[in-house]
Amino acid sequence: MKLPREIIESRRRAVREALNYISDGMVVGLGSGTTMRLFVEELASYIKASRISISVVPSSYDIMIYALGLGLHIIDPMGLYEIDIAFDGADEVDAKLNLLKGGGAALTREKIIDSMSRKTIIIVDYTKLVDKLCTRKPLPVEVAPPALSYVSRRLKEIVECRDVKVRQGAGKVGPIVTDNGFFIIDLYPKNPIEPDDVERVSTKINMIPGVLENGLFPRKLVDTVIVGFPDRVEVLKAR
Ligand code: 5RP
Repeated sequence: MKLPREIIESRRRAVREALNYISDGMVVGLGSGTTMRLFVEELASYIKASRISISVVPSSYDIMIYALGLGLHIIDPMGLYEIDIAFDGADEVDAKLNLLKGGGAALTREKIIDSMSRKTIIIVDYTKLVDKLCTRKPLPVEVAPPALSYVSRRLKEIVECRDVKVRQGAGKVGPIVTDNGFFIIDLYPKNPIEPDDVERVSTKINMIPGVLENGLFPRKLVDTVIVGFPDRVEVLKAR
């Protein structure tokens, strides 16, 4: 889907602000998605122009391949205990800076990278701001294939739903298969999730056997949200 120019420019403005958090020698975690692709482009130019040395830890094959194509130095997270700083996008950001993520089905590895990082900076354009999560987008849950029906039923007990759908692939028949070999269930809650309820709902969902992770990222995972507007940038502090 082609994004309006105004949105791309708002995102680019936020991405450029985010580069202020980078310094020489850092190990940098990368989320996934179109905003992160913009970030990787700007980061590659910044590294060249300022002659600094940066290594990146990707959260998906998509962002890894993109970063490799731009000549960035990649590190696999498996050998790391900690990452200096992570940059990530989001599908929605609520009034208390909780996040909804997983539009690109990379939520599990993104949550790992964001949790491993000493600082997590979220980069969004202004259209991602909402009062409550799941106002516009469903809640993705990554599920082991044998548990598909069981998890679908249990999710409906935790969250009152309008619909529960198995996400379908593009360029492939059947469900999408994540980088972890799992499926994605998209949950459409009847009512958006109250900011003070995000952590509780996330914890409950993750306790269902067969669930790998879900797309609710409680604000405790976030340090800063950089929001790009057509004419300015706002920097919001979560802690
Ligand atoms: C991928 C994600 C992305 O951060 C989220 O979908 C936002 O993507 P985009 O920058 O393309 O709008 O969570 O799993």
